[in-house]
Amino acid sequence: MNCTYRLANKVELADQSSPYRPEQPWFLPPHRRIETIYEAIADGVTCEGGRMILITGGAGYIGAHVALQWLGNGEDVVILDNLCNSQRAAIERISTLAGKRPEFIQGDVRNRRLLDNLLRDYPIDAVVHCAGLKAVGESVREPLRYFDTNVGGSLTLCQAMAQAGVFHLVFSSSATVYGDCATLPINENCATGQPTNPYGMSKLMSENIMKSVASSDPRWSIGLLRYFNPIGAHPSGLLGEAPTSTPNNLLPYLLEVASGQRAQLSVFGNDYPTPDGTGIRDYLHVVDLALGHVCALGALRDRHGVSIWNLGTGRGYSVLEVVSAFEQVTGIKIPLRIEARRPGDIARCWADPQKALEELGWQASRSLHSMLADAWRWQCNQLGQVDVRQAN
Ligand code: NAD
Ligand code: WQD
Repeated sequence: MNCTYRLANKVELADQSSPYRPEQPWFLPPHRRIETIYEAIADGVTCEGGRMILITGGAGYIGAHVALQWLGNGEDVVILDNLCNSQRAAIERISTLAGKRPEFIQGDVRNRRLLDNLLRDYPIDAVVHCAGLKAVGESVREPLRYFDTNVGGSLTLCQAMAQAGVFHLVFSSSATVYGDCATLPINENCATGQPTNPYGMSKLMSENIMKSVASSDPRWSIGLLRYFNPIGAHPSGLLGEAPTSTPNNLLPYLLEVASGQRAQLSVFGNDYPTPDGTGIRDYLHVVDLALGHVCALGALRDRHGVSIWNLGTGRGYSVLEVVSAFEQVTGIKIPLRIEARRPGDIARCWADPQKALEELGWQASRSLHSMLADAWRWQCNQLGQVDVRQAN
């Protein structure tokens, strides 16, 4: 499709138009959909019902689940990803699961010309910006690359969107922007802290850019989604996190120990002021997280300025609780070694998710057991194993 579009009409669709499929319960039945009808003005072609959502980083772990939600809800999706931390196979898997192909453009979110063309050639009316680099340790070693990609990418994207007249943006932010928050649970009014690493700083800087952009022009509606600790995989076992190097995060590392790729799990500190001495985090299922994006964009359509939502469950689990739950779910014993605290780690972190519930109607519903069972199913599928013990 190589034409430009102008907004022709907006039609509110009735509830029964929802493409919710009970046999695929991971798809959210949208309670309300606004369909936007575009008209091609450059070449006389009329493209009806052509609203599309651009998902940057849509081949990655979270972006792929987000893309799947939208496709499953009958929406059209364009994915932009340079595949620096993902594979084209993810696009095939998304298509298989959704029964519908996203448009895929392999390219860099910092490429302004590419973004201009993309926003001109597709009837995109909203963007979910997941593209970015996310390894905390790597960001300490290569801060310039992190600022360039994460801050530069956000900046270029906002510039291109403003020029194209696209003002709805959902941003993948992180609870890391709170730093070591003095009060728990963490709500959106907690001051953003001083992130201890360039990755965290890059998220806070991107948030600040977006806040300034939104204050400069009332047409902007931006949702900053502060994710807590997303884990798990699609229940089909076909989509999940695929680290390309040694994992830094707890769950991907644990999965590699469970599947015999690593000898043991290091527990970083058992002397924290927590009941068992190990760090506590708010783990949430990646499918719940993806649903949060759909709800957030729905809410942004009636809002202006910047809205901030925590996406977490509101409940924390310690490292040892996660390991124990994993052992129960899979029947696999995980060899552990207690080590020193990891620099920069905090003792406890969990969300107050009330604002997302009140304003978005979103609530994480999947249990820790589901997160672990789904993650293990994905891991077994990747390794070509068939026996996923008790993973249900
Ligand atoms: P991921 O690495 O799996 O996905 C990111 C995707 O962005 C990858 O497919 C990568 O190829 C792509 N990408 C990177 N740089 C790009 C560029 N310059 N141009 C185009 N594409 C580019 O990571 P994820 O876990 O899916 O995280 C998605 C977003 O959510 C990131 O912005 C991350 O910082 C944020 N986030 C993740 C977590 C987490 O624990 N996974 C927590 C909080 C926030
Ligand atoms: C969880 C707990 C560790 C690994 C990081 C980023 C954050 C966000 C999510 C992107 C902690 C312990 C871990 C291991 C362990 N990412 N642990 N052994 O540190 O909460 O957050 O990822 O935005 O920005 O900082 O997550 O999974 O690394 O750690 O004992 O091998 O597990 O000490 O208590 P974290 P994590």
